[in-house]
Amino acid sequence: MFSRRIVTKLLLSLFTFSLIVACAQTNTPDQAASTGSSGGSGATGNAIPIGVAVAQTSNVALLGQEQVLGAKIAETYFNDQGGVNGTPIRLVLQDTAGDEQGTINAFNALITQDKVVGIVGPTLSQQAFAADPVADRAKVPVLAPSNTAKGIPQIGEYIARVSAPVAVVAPNALKTALTINPNIKNVAVLFAQNDAFSKSETETFQNAVKEANLNLTTVQKFQTTDTDFQTQATNAINTNPELVIISGLAADGGNLVKQLRDLGYQGSIIGGNGLNTSNIFPVCKKDCDGILIAQAYSPELDNPINKAFREAYKSQNQKEPPQFSAQAFTGVQVFVEALKSLDNKTKLNTLSLEQLRSELNKEILAGNYETPIGSIAFDPEGEIQQSQFYVAQIKMDADGNNGRFEFLK
Ligand code: ALA
Repeated sequence: MFSRRIVTKLLLSLFTFSLIVACAQTNTPDQAASTGSSGGSGATGNAIPIGVAVAQTSNVALLGQEQVLGAKIAETYFNDQGGVNGTPIRLVLQDTAGDEQGTINAFNALITQDKVVGIVGPTLSQQAFAADPVADRAKVPVLAPSNTAKGIPQIGEYIARVSAPVAVVAPNALKTALTINPNIKNVAVLFAQNDAFSKSETETFQNAVKEANLNLTTVQKFQTTDTDFQTQATNAINTNPELVIISGLAADGGNLVKQLRDLGYQGSIIGGNGLNTSNIFPVCKKDCDGILIAQAYSPELDNPINKAFREAYKSQNQKEPPQFSAQAFTGVQVFVEALKSLDNKTKLNTLSLEQLRSELNKEILAGNYETPIGSIAFDPEGEIQQSQFYVAQIKMDADGNNGRFEFLK
């Protein structure tokens, strides 16, 4: 049979082969340090790292998980199209959880350890006001996928957003509520006082109520961590409103809706942007039915990139894509297109990371983008220029287990 020498040689070459395979599979220290998400191309060795810092855990993950889905669809989609002029992108995910410190930690990890070119995140404006200054000081571009409070782009030169501010989105819901029920006169408003976005949004809603010559009968405050809303709901109902407007996040907002209905409230309800997710369905169940929510995205927007995004999302999730996923996709898209445009002028591999980040920031602000949320651009401060907004109404099945957002014309 085989001589001992041949067997030894065979074993040696097998060993060498396994070593080569093992080395090829070992991540670089940068890759190993965080959750890399592999895109369509599979090649990650020289891929361009883009950070995604959203809430993957905590209550805020009701919104953040939708953002992860949207960002990952973008990673696959753009890598399948050749990435950045032939170089793939690689998303690096860091979980911010639901608070400010978690977000600062995630941003720091992405900036110094993962060496990303820019960051899509965080989920909440409350988190953005704490963490964006860290990125701005480090001169790392941030695209806010869902930070809709007043003042986000003004945090600094490196902060822009793909999420239209409450001032332009929220009043659409009031207009629609008045079209559906022209008899609305009394309006009760409730908001989460420990959340920067909810405070900003309620200001917009309260102004819109006054401008429409309606009676603002009461303003009730709660915390995003509250679960018992009996006092606020009773106080609101006692003012005989035909409309209640809630600015909070998904878990608290959903619970508040449920408790209002349990206490007998039968009028209209507007939910703010923090309730804009089907993840509230298990919270308010059949009582989610009828909630009106303004939208910065419609699955029916008719352009090729939205069609591709919608198809990909539907085949993965068997439902229509939500706004939070579409905006996260858009955040990744803007990075990819700005990187391409920069690379066309100056080869990216000739730039240091510092140069790349700062040139990329200029490129982001200079571009026009055809995205799933429509044609967008930025003003010099990084505020999104977007023209199409919508209003949807939640329709729940009778058993309250399933529901959908129905877009109103
Ligand atoms: N739009 C919400 C915020 O800005 C999620 O915090």
